[in-house]
This record gives sequence, C-alpha cells and structure tokens, in this order.
Amino acid sequence: MRASGAWLCLIAMLAAPLPALAVSPEPPPGASSCSGCHATRRVDTAVPPLVGRQASDIIAQMQAFKSGQKPATVMDRIAKGFTDAEIQDIANWYAQQK
Ligand code: HEC
Repeated sequence: MRASGAWLCLIAMLAAPLPALAVSPEPPPGASSCSGCHATRRVDTAVPPLVGRQASDIIAQMQAFKSGQKPATVMDRIAKGFTDAEIQDIANWYAQQK
C-alpha cells in the first residue's frame, strides 16, 4: 500500500474547508439587503452590527420584530418581509462573518 499516504493527504485536503469559503460563503438571499443599514464590518454606527452575533440571537430579535413584541422604527416592517427559513439562513450567515 505505497499510495495510502498520498490518499490520506488528498482526503485531508478535501476535508479541510478552504479558509476563504469558510469565512465568507456567498450571502443567502436577503442578507445583502440588511447590509445597507447594518455594517458588515465592526464599525461604530447607530444601527447595531449583525456580524459575529449568535444566529439564535438574530433569529429571536427578528421574530420579536415580526410579532411586534419588540418596538422598532423600521425592523418590524423589514422582518415581516422574510420567511422563518430566510431569517435562519441570513442569521447563520451573519453569525459566521467575523
Ligand atoms: C432600512 C435600514 C435597515 C435594514 C435594511 C435592516 N435593518 Fe435591522 N435595524 C435597523 C434599525 C434602525 C434597527 C434598530 C431598531 C429599529 O428602530 O427598527 C435595527 C435592528 C435590528 C436588529 C436588532 C439588533 C439589536 O441589538 O437590537 C436585528 C437583529 C436586525 N436589525 C436584523 C436585520 C436583518 C437580519 C436585516 C435584513 C433582513 C435588517 N436588519 C435590515 C435598520 C435596518
């Protein structure tokens, strides 16, 4: 089994996600509409940033906006435009951004 070392190496390369892909996969539909107001980098703005937050936190906030439980100027209207599945994808994506 002379080739087994090479195979292991190849498998390890395939299994390891490319760093660039792991950090920023293509944003899911809708995520780019958030970044118009929510900065995608850590900067000091009045609108709280979404990057690096827990996905569960973003989802909970969006549900609270949707139901009207959390008072908002614009987010209640924006949240209503997204399905639960879309919110989940967007939240997961933002949580992965560093
Ligand atoms: C038109 C600008 C605008 C867009 C677009 C927008 N937001 Fe917001 N977002 C705000 C503002 C302003 C607030 C503060 C609450 C308010 O006044 O509505 C906020 C608050 C939030 C919060 C609560 C943060 C906290 O710590 O209280 C979350 C979560 C959030 N937005 C998620 C999103 C997501 C996800 C999207 C895209 C689907 C999005 N927002 C698109 C302006 C925007």
